[in-house]
Amino acid sequence: MYTLKHGLIREGRKHPEWGKFISPDKELENYSDPNEKLNVYIPSGNKADFTPFLKINPVFDSVVAKILEQRKIMTYEEQCSGKYYFNCFEILQSLRGKINRVAEVGTYLGGASCIFAGCSTHFEFELDLIEAKKEFLLFTYERIRRAFPEATAMIRLFLGDLPTYVKNVVMKETQSNILFHHDAGHNFNQVVNDLASLYFIKDKTHGLIIQDTHLRSAKIQNYIFVDAAVFAVFGFDLAFIEIGAKFANSTEPAYAGKSYFINNQAEGFYIPFEHNTFKYPHHSMTLNEIDTVV
Ligand SMILES: C[S@@+](CC[C@H](N)C(=O)[O-])C[C@H]1O[C@@H](n2cnc3c(N)ncnc32)[C@H](O)[C@@H]1O
Repeated sequence: MYTLKHGLIREGRKHPEWGKFISPDKELENYSDPNEKLNVYIPSGNKADFTPFLKINPVFDSVVAKILEQRKIMTYEEQCSGKYYFNCFEILQSLRGKINRVAEVGTYLGGASCIFAGCSTHFEFELDLIEAKKEFLLFTYERIRRAFPEATAMIRLFLGDLPTYVKNVVMKETQSNILFHHDAGHNFNQVVNDLASLYFIKDKTHGLIIQDTHLRSAKIQNYIFVDAAVFAVFGFDLAFIEIGAKFANSTEPAYAGKSYFINNQAEGFYIPFEHNTFKYPHHSMTLNEIDTVV
């Protein structure tokens, strides 16, 4: 997990390309490791363990094989578990023909993005990557370009946050059947803002996969409560499928964000909208009211 720095969105909105699709950085093609140019801070270098999920599905195996090749060449980290990535793959496979776009919010260095990109040509969907920090978006794209060049024609890079993407992109398109993946800011208010913005495009949205539903921070001022935000928006009768890892015991606080995982709670939730209703926002509210900087 990458804990939201307060002010990330406030700062991000000063960027001239904020709220727009951006172009890849062609220069990164000349570096064996794009991080030599981008110089992105990588807290742990952690990589997902895919081993227990191999030899189950040949498509997953082929996607993972291309990801594993990159580990020797580029410096990055993957912030979800191997089980989480495999469960995302299984959901995408089950939704073949039912969704035509995956919109991923919060790419960091492309852990989940590479799984989605690898699946996109097999399961035939386009991929929008939405991220508040430009260098993460560029790094992610370069990973995808090298591993899954055939997927790049269907990929767009949006510099911004989810309410801005809803307003500037989805509300102006006829696009429907979008699956969102959310692993962006984990602060309660931020997640409420993001999920509430989906209310305005609920008829175009198949559903949502959301990560870090087991995450807390030992620094209370971070207010890391993704699961609570999900229940605040969809209510306690939420119909969802648990995905990813689940720990028998709570972990210890780590890194500057003092983040830890609570016990016996899933790493992520898959929330199909056909089985859920929005308890928030109120129908009298507008997207502009939701789109506040946290
Ligand atoms: C936990 S990381 C994503 C990790 C990634 N899913 C993976 O598989 O490794 C979260 C990312 O969300 C971005 N982010 C944080 N708040 C955001 C927001 N409100 N909107 C868009 N991106 C955000 C951060 O810059 C960071 O790159």
